[in-house]
Amino acid sequence: MKVVASVKEMQEIALKLRREGKNVGFVPTMGYLHAGHLSLVKNARAECDVVVMSIFVNPLQFGPQEDFAVYPRALERDLELARAEGVAYVFAPAEEEMYPEGYCTHVEVTGPLTEKMCGRSRPGHFRGVTTVVLKLFQVVQPVRAYFGQKDAQQALVIKKMCRDLNVPVEIVTCPIVREGDGLALSSRNVYLSASEREAALALPRALEAGRQLVAKGEHDPQKVRAKILAVLTDSPLVEVDYVEVCDGQNLSDLDQLAGPVLLAAAVRVGKTRLIDNIYLEVHHVPNHVEI
Ligand code: PAJ
Repeated sequence: MKVVASVKEMQEIALKLRREGKNVGFVPTMGYLHAGHLSLVKNARAECDVVVMSIFVNPLQFGPQEDFAVYPRALERDLELARAEGVAYVFAPAEEEMYPEGYCTHVEVTGPLTEKMCGRSRPGHFRGVTTVVLKLFQVVQPVRAYFGQKDAQQALVIKKMCRDLNVPVEIVTCPIVREGDGLALSSRNVYLSASEREAALALPRALEAGRQLVAKGEHDPQKVRAKILAVLTDSPLVEVDYVEVCDGQNLSDLDQLAGPVLLAAAVRVGKTRLIDNIYLEVHHVPNHVEI
């Protein structure tokens, strides 16, 4: 496995791989790797000739009051994990390499996809994400790039950017990897104290309660949302940021749950912000079938 810090060198490697006819699968990350990140690598390995991972804590996607400075970093450990998983190249640039002095170009998906949920709670966040992801695509030139359903809105925003800007990269979304007790893996879970870690379980529990309500035949998004909210507000250490029950493809509001549906929530447990979601395909069955 080769670690590359320079844009120029990574682009040269990408060009060489392309000339050799190799399909590059790309896994962008901010490091502090866990089994969720590694599941993306597994998928990429199964479908591509060469896997490139990036490790870059992108300052552009953090708000001024957010955790950029304290975001967990463990490059040496990450490199070992990436190597063991069969990553061929890790692109790990310094901040000045990605954003040299005078840098001033940004990429922004506007409209409903970025206006609600995390877009509302974290102004400028998705603009930072799309800017860095498009830059990384230009450097790595992958055929496919792998993202986690854990960040459902992020994956949809990136897909939209690629469609709108004719970016020739196939975006693959992979399932959420969870701990045995249901908590979605996240680099930010290390911030949680033991009692906060326990309280954080309300998040997957609330979404699961919502899913069960839908499975029982509830088609009113407001009732499902209220159920999720009730479970979350029951937990004393949990402060709700948002709960959304909406269209799973474009995040628009729904009158009735049918087709692709996303149950999504963000909470704060102590100082830590956590997000989670469940994606469902709802088949609308009429309540009364007349024979
Ligand atoms: P990061 O939070 O490091 O996540 C990197 C990728 O891992 C994302 O696609 C994310 O959805 C996925 N991931 C995280 N936790 C997961 C889990 N429990 N199960 C499955 N996949 C999971 O997301 C980012 O970094 C950044 O915004 C980035 C795209 C790298 C741009 O800076």
